[in-house]
Amino acid sequence: MRVSVIGCGHLGASHAAAMAELGHEVVGVEIDPDKCAILATGASWFYEAGMDDLLAKHVPTGRLRFTTSLAEAAAFADVHFLAVGTPLRADGQGYDVSQVLGAAEQLVPLLTRPATIIGKSTVTVGTVARLQQIITERAGVEGIELVWNPEFLREGHAVADSLFPDRILVGLSSPTALATVEQVYAPIMARGDIEMVVTDPATAEVAKSAANAFLATKISYINAMAQVCDLTGANIDDVAHVMGIDKRIGHGGMRAGLGYGGGCLPKDVAAFAHAVTLLGATDATGLLDAVQAVNRSRMDTAVQLVTRAVGRPLAGLTIGYLGAAFKAGTSDVRDSPALRLADRLHDLGATVRVHDPESLDNARHSHPHLAFAPTALDAVSGADLVVIATEWGQYTRDPKLPVAAADRTPARTVVDVRNALDAEPWLAAGWTVHQMGRPTRSPGA
Ligand SMILES: NC(=O)c1ccc[n+]([C@@H]2O[C@H](COP(=O)([O-])OP(=O)(O)OC[C@H]3O[C@@H](n4cnc5c(N)ncnc54)[C@H](O)[C@@H]3O)[C@@H](O)[C@H]2O)c1
Repeated sequence: MRVSVIGCGHLGASHAAAMAELGHEVVGVEIDPDKCAILATGASWFYEAGMDDLLAKHVPTGRLRFTTSLAEAAAFADVHFLAVGTPLRADGQGYDVSQVLGAAEQLVPLLTRPATIIGKSTVTVGTVARLQQIITERAGVEGIELVWNPEFLREGHAVADSLFPDRILVGLSSPTALATVEQVYAPIMARGDIEMVVTDPATAEVAKSAANAFLATKISYINAMAQVCDLTGANIDDVAHVMGIDKRIGHGGMRAGLGYGGGCLPKDVAAFAHAVTLLGATDATGLLDAVQAVNRSRMDTAVQLVTRAVGRPLAGLTIGYLGAAFKAGTSDVRDSPALRLADRLHDLGATVRVHDPESLDNARHSHPHLAFAPTALDAVSGADLVVIATEWGQYTRDPKLPVAAADRTPARTVVDVRNALDAEPWLAAGWTVHQMGRPTRSPGA
């Protein structure tokens, strides 16, 4: 099929590459000429595992190309995915859906034959109805169908999640639209192990928000239990393991740490909280307010842990700070808990010397007041303590790092605010290990 993907950011570029891998002819439309130019070379403008390989495979053959021209996409494709951003409004009161509405307002009049618009962005319930209105008012031809197909991919796993999703959710209201999405996703559905859930558009909108809010709830719940563990001397990792064995609970999202972050969950939970408040859904409002309050308080807990670990005020100390990305596997620093904590430590007078394998340039750009180091060892050299702020495997699972770092960091105190560290090699190399909601471990103890 001939497909366009409008908005080639973290979601759209991954989706465009996946569509090409599934065998479609794809044009990606990206309004930012710099991002578009990089994608057109067959490389990604952000780090995402596996992305460069797919782009390098499909851009040179012409099966996947990128343009800044919506008119070109309208002329070429019969299916148009909307993957533009839906940031939080400046006043925090719900989503700014202007990119979605704006893209539709521009696209619809350019369509000269029947086509299907498939929205993938995360939106407030009611947005599909507004888009339907735009189609009714602006279409120059009959047969423009609208589908809402929320995306559930996880950054750091975007390529794999696009090709092997847990489910495909489509909100639609006509058999023609259903026939089109079945054709688009036929290569995935042919595997026989994935459910395509077909609902009305409003249900699809709510289901996506509800799923994100539930994940955030799980994360805040286990973080709240980490506080209980801190106060009782219990071990949150064991508590989470015991809980997760129960099939009704599961292990996903059950690692205590700095709380959720990134370009999606924080704004999606905030926007959904605002939406349910407007609706008068008081139970949901109370729940989501509590979830967000726990998430905010993780920064206080982390600052307390760092202060306790070093045993004195932070002013004047140097912190070897490993991680800036909001999670491992991506260069994305949007609403990164790692950088939020770095800011807090910086404000308390510490020199925070940051390393990250993929997001150093982004962090330098967004947080120029911090210090930066080209390697993890440079970051920790001569530091008064080491903080592991993003769960990259090269920090948490490489047994050589604690040995090499021990030579450079006499204090040998590591604070793992992600509870991701394989602590044994660190203990063996003489480090004292502090984690969230876990008793401190010292070498030889
Ligand atoms: N990032 C994720 O992992 C993820 C997962 C699921 C859902 N989502 C949702 O997907 C949407 C996009 O998220 P993202 O993280 O990719 O955002 P992003 O900011 O990385 O990407 C959006 C892109 O759209 C481009 N754009 C804006 N208007 C355009 C237009 N008129 N024509 C062409 N390009 C245009 C922007 O320049 C930007 O590159 C959001 O609604 C988000 O909530 C994201």
